Amino acid sequence: MNTPTATTTGMAVRLTGLVKSYGTVQAVRGVDLDIAPGEVVALLGPNGAGKSTTIDMLLGLARPDQGNVTVFDVEPHRAVAQGYVGAMLQSGTLLPDATVGELVEMFAALHRDSLPVQEALEQAGIADLAQRPTAKLSGGQAQRVRFALAVVPNPDLLVLDEPTVGMDVESRRAFWAAMHKLTAAGRTVLFATHYLDEADSYADRVVLMRGGRVIADGTSAAIKSQVAGRSITATLPGADRARLAGLPGVTEVETRGDQVVLRCKDSDAALRSLLATYTDARDVEVRSVDLEDAVVALTSDAAEPSGALSQSTQDTRSLS
Ligand SMILES: Nc1ncnc2c1ncn2[C@@H]1O[C@H](COP(=O)(O)OP(=O)(O)OP(=O)(O)O)[C@@H](O)[C@H]1O
Ligand SMILES: [Mg+2]
Repeated sequence: MNTPTATTTGMAVRLTGLVKSYGTVQAVRGVDLDIAPGEVVALLGPNGAGKSTTIDMLLGLARPDQGNVTVFDVEPHRAVAQGYVGAMLQSGTLLPDATVGELVEMFAALHRDSLPVQEALEQAGIADLAQRPTAKLSGGQAQRVRFALAVVPNPDLLVLDEPTVGMDVESRRAFWAAMHKLTAAGRTVLFATHYLDEADSYADRVVLMRGGRVIADGTSAAIKSQVAGRSITATLPGADRARLAGLPGVTEVETRGDQVVLRCKDSDAALRSLLATYTDARDVEVRSVDLEDAVVALTSDAAEPSGALSQSTQDTRSLS
């Protein structure tokens, strides 16, 4: 396994006061973020939160309206040109008239300290696809090719926008096993994902965005502890949300078809009254808050009073 180059210095990522609008859409509204070398950071948040826009600015693909980006103390373009950064983007097609091997070879040729093509293909688990035209790949295979393109410069920083979308369960596991080797060698990783189990399992740190801002930043455990208590799930056809919300100990009610999820500050009291009130409740489970509960609670409309989106970034919950 190759180790990262020793030439990089400073913070792996430093975003200061980043602002970016597309027409009337304020995609990013003041993001400050430092990522130290060696950190593995998950970027979470609902659709449209500004994750990809932030990543695009970090890679020099979009120019901030305000603010500043450095990657290992240099401008994004230079960092990419030097091979300090490897990226997997959310969109973008693969060059259609090339084979997988040719495409990875082309990327390798752009950088001085690239990995051997075969090694990049192996890391991405696609050594057997080298001769395959890129136009003939399945969605999950194309995603692995993008991963090979990200690792072939032998970068110190990997920036991955929803890297495992379209991968089957086994491919996701293989992907994270490969990532684990890369991070064990000291690389820095920033990845956006909607798979919260990936954030929980693989990230040292979770950065949660909403409405173009960072609203929480800390370890997964710290984010979970922001949303105290437990939740009760039960199958309860036709249950009345308002009545459920009025049960003692319940702080929030979510319904998913016939299933209800009660977030509770006192789950014992809530459970007693739930079973007394709804004698037909089935499949009742009590569990502690997981990262998904915490993210839903922190990013839901109820989490911020109206108008809060126009407050300053000093509201960021710093949880480290
Ligand atoms: N090129 C563009 N032109 C116009 N609006 C854009 C453009 N790119 C992003 N936006 C808007 O900016 C906002 C943030 O989008 P962004 O892609 O950064 O979100 P995201 O957090 O990556 O979401 P997702 O989870 O769906 O990938 C959205 O409202 C989106 O519609
Ligand atoms: Mg996105």
